[in-house]
Amino acid sequence: MDRVKGKIIVITGAASGLGLADSRVLAREGAQVVMTDIDPDAGQTHANEIGAHFITQDVSEEASWRHVMNEVESRFERLDGLVNNAGIAPIANIEDTTTDVWRRVMGIHLDATFWGCKSAIALMKKSGGGSIVNMSSTAALIGLSPYLAYSAAKGGIRAMTKSIAIHCRSEGLGIRCNSVHPGSISTPMVHKALKSLMGTDLMAEEDPEKTRVALGIGEPEDVANMVLYLLSDESKHVTGAEMVIDNGDTVI
Ligand SMILES: NC(=O)c1ccc[n+]([C@@H]2O[C@H](COP(=O)([O-])OP(=O)(O)OC[C@H]3O[C@@H](n4cnc5c(N)ncnc54)[C@H](O)[C@@H]3O)[C@@H](O)[C@H]2O)c1
Repeated sequence: MDRVKGKIIVITGAASGLGLADSRVLAREGAQVVMTDIDPDAGQTHANEIGAHFITQDVSEEASWRHVMNEVESRFERLDGLVNNAGIAPIANIEDTTTDVWRRVMGIHLDATFWGCKSAIALMKKSGGGSIVNMSSTAALIGLSPYLAYSAAKGGIRAMTKSIAIHCRSEGLGIRCNSVHPGSISTPMVHKALKSLMGTDLMAEEDPEKTRVALGIGEPEDVANMVLYLLSDESKHVTGAEMVIDNGDTVI
């Protein structure tokens, strides 16, 4: 209990899946959570249920970051944590990927993580430090052929995270920056992919829990517990690290 007590933490893409699980776990552990998402209905509903503050945000718009950080500063006076989590995962290999899909994926993952980190650091500096968690993927480590743009963007996030971590350390900013690399985790994004790539509808299975385990798919809390650790002071000596949560899939 209280592992992030009193910390002000912004989570993007918080209306669903991993961002929602992060929000619940962090709020339970004492944080004041600020949830943002492009979906205001689901976002506001879940924020009310969690006791979090909600801001509508399209992370791929630079101006949205000024809006979010201004609101956080005026309402809470500081920022202690940011989880750059919002994402999309269109299924398209190198031959199928259009320039529009490429740019959309880069906007939501790479541009947004850049603007998120830049604006968070400016605010965190004022109160002496903080912790940033960038949601990458095992796609950054192995490259997935049906996810060309996604793999490229997640690889960029991995390298950007390390660059930011070392800058913050050498400047003595007291700000840590780490990336998280989940394998397949049971969220709407993965359910959609399973249907399209394998013809499997996890939620329509007689025993979805048994099928989830049989397919080697993790639970959102498996990732949320790592995010909690990285945002807490327990990880004060951890920066520039890539935390893989895939039950060993990328090792074998
Ligand atoms: N689920 C997995 O297996 C898995 C594995 C590796 C990485 N990830 C990453 O975790 C993150 C969350 O994925 P998820 O599985 O929870 O997906 P999800 O589809 O359940 O949730 C994604 C959330 O992001 C929001 N979003 C989409 N575009 C947005 C935008 N432009 N601005 C703001 N919000 C936006 C959506 O509305 C949604 O609430 C993503 O970055 C994803 O790439 C997921």
